[in-house]
Amino acid sequence: MAARYVMAIDQGTTSTRCIVFDQRARLVGVAQREHQQRYPRPGWVEQDAAEVWRNVGRIVPQALRESGIAAEEIVALGIANQRETTVLWDRRTGVPIGRAIVWQDTRTEDLVRELANAPGAHRIRELTGLPLATYFAAPRLRWLLDNTPGLRERAERGEVLFGTMETWVIWQLTGGPDGGAHRTDVTNASRTLLMNLATLQWDSELLRFFDIPAAVLPRIQASTAPYGRTTTVVPGIDIAAALGDQHAALFGQTCFARGETKCTYGTGGFLMMNTGSELVRSEHGLLSTIGYQIGPEPVYALEGPIAVTGSLVQWIRDNLGLVGSAPEIETLAATVEDNGGCYIVPAFSGLYAPHWRSDARGAIFGLTSYITKGHLARAVLEATAWQTREVVEAMNADSGLQARTLRVDGGMTADNLLMRIVADVLDIPVVRPFVAETVSLGAAYAAGLAVGYWPDLEGLRRNWRPAAQWTPRMDPAHRAEEYANWQRAVSLTFGWLR
Ligand code: G3P
Repeated sequence: MAARYVMAIDQGTTSTRCIVFDQRARLVGVAQREHQQRYPRPGWVEQDAAEVWRNVGRIVPQALRESGIAAEEIVALGIANQRETTVLWDRRTGVPIGRAIVWQDTRTEDLVRELANAPGAHRIRELTGLPLATYFAAPRLRWLLDNTPGLRERAERGEVLFGTMETWVIWQLTGGPDGGAHRTDVTNASRTLLMNLATLQWDSELLRFFDIPAAVLPRIQASTAPYGRTTTVVPGIDIAAALGDQHAALFGQTCFARGETKCTYGTGGFLMMNTGSELVRSEHGLLSTIGYQIGPEPVYALEGPIAVTGSLVQWIRDNLGLVGSAPEIETLAATVEDNGGCYIVPAFSGLYAPHWRSDARGAIFGLTSYITKGHLARAVLEATAWQTREVVEAMNADSGLQARTLRVDGGMTADNLLMRIVADVLDIPVVRPFVAETVSLGAAYAAGLAVGYWPDLEGLRRNWRPAAQWTPRMDPAHRAEEYANWQRAVSLTFGWLR
């Protein structure tokens, strides 16, 4: 019998990749393409959804070629994606309406402030598990409807479709204007501010609050469910799963039990803790969200997104020129014993979890003539570690569970010194698995489970193998003192923006 494989598409913030996996979760072939980020005004971040779709059209056949296999050998396709990025398009022509507004975009700040004072605003956290913030999709959708002439009327007539990136890609793959499936999954829908976290359906109270016509919305499905069969690009492949990328990473890290926690370190850092069948309502600045849904009931999760981790290293490289490449930050930080009393709080666009302070701005504290670029590099790495600590602490407090280890993935985990510092400040082991492509693997796992390619979660767990582990060895008194300094630095950034 021909060997069979599962395909994953990871439609991320900066690039889209397509990976083919075999049954032992080994990577058989990969293709990737970046798309352009557009910054038309301060705080605005846009992408061209048509460009993203063109990239999908190229990487899927390319990944098959790389793998040396035929489309018929793919048993299922799973899709993971950057979340909250908002796309609108014309149902008849398939042409995007304006640019996609990316999750980092803060143009809706005034609108969000206005909505926060509107009647009904106090219900949002209860209904969605989320704070009202520029991070999520609904304010962007409302902004587009308010600011594009004639769009609201067209939307009400059913001529316009909304989606996050998985919805856009699925619609295009399944035929686009010729009967494309307009679907989203619960994890992506849980980040719009429009889905009721208890019913897993669009909520009429929220649609009224944000003034969004229901006609634009896709149908919500479980993460593993039939999303349609491809008729474009490479026809005949069943799309069997969709998940937001951070949820896919949770799944790919096989965090299937309550309390199991992962962090994906990229431009930002995204921590997620599995809370099982219990919807934990956060009182410590986290998001209550759907971890994944592979059966009739969802598995809930607590999430702590950190806006700036890897992008601080990029800033040090590109804006300050302190290092020539991102990996050099480790070498530079290793030239010193400690931070020399220096702390960097990278509140470049305010602070996300657990503070949610859009009025904070970045700052460097503790500068003296003793400080060298080595100390600054060290403070850069420590900023990621302390932000992780704040979120893990909030997770433990909210859930009543204790994260016992932190499973990590993403580009920054190649920095061994950073991983050592994270373990030290968390006081729990940090583990990096063999397969670093956790987002794609999670999407592949979900799709493969849906079609019986992998029998059950236990089978997937057996594929997870640690490649590296860091155990904490920091003196507790020193840790406590450093953490107190960090917290003081953070609080001093609050209110900078008036
Ligand atoms: O919430 C945004 C997140 O899903 C983006 O992740 O890895 O595409 O930057 P990434």
